[in-house]
Amino acid sequence: MVVSLVATAFWAMLPAYVPNNAAVLAGGGRPIDGGRTWGGRRVLGDGKTWRGTAAGTLAGTLLAVVLNAAAPAVSGALGVLLPTFPLAAGFGLALGAMLGDIGASFLKRRSGRERGAAFPGLDQLDFVVGALVLALVAAPGWFSATFTLPVLAVVLVMTPVLHVVTNVGAYLLGLKNEPW
Ligand code: CTP
Ligand code: MG
Repeated sequence: MVVSLVATAFWAMLPAYVPNNAAVLAGGGRPIDGGRTWGGRRVLGDGKTWRGTAAGTLAGTLLAVVLNAAAPAVSGALGVLLPTFPLAAGFGLALGAMLGDIGASFLKRRSGRERGAAFPGLDQLDFVVGALVLALVAAPGWFSATFTLPVLAVVLVMTPVLHVVTNVGAYLLGLKNEPW
């Protein structure tokens, strides 16, 4: 029961987990805000780029397609019926994760935090909220069948833990400037 919930929650969120990491690897180039400021501070900052956002969205969407191909074998091995992703669902999760992260940067700049500053809580959940909201809008039937209340509860507990672990890992590998 618990194994099945955790496996389902992790699997269903993978297209939302990968975009931020892909953006770290692919980021750079023109910032989305084009250098513009609002109230004396950058609208988003140099950490939110077109390239990173596109690469992250693409990576998450493609991962959903790969997961669909792997689902029967992995479901069989685990003995858990894992969800598959309609294209709209994979795309919604991936783009939503990126938009949630961008929204968080907007709030960070408005609250006077410079690029790279930590915002505990927001940093760990911004992309989850974005991904879930956009998946709900893009694929409502799939969303309600996949993200039952127990699955949602596991997502909200598991994601901050995974986020901290992967970001500390990326920091230790020298891929990220800060461990959050
Ligand atoms: N990145 C990007 N485009 C995005 C998200 C991330 O190019 N939409 C890249 C940037 O190179 C960024 C890195 O991934 O510096 C790390 O992402 P993140 O921690 O979200 O950005 P920060 O630089 O910490 O900036 P912020 O304070 O705005 O979160
Ligand atoms: Mg950051």
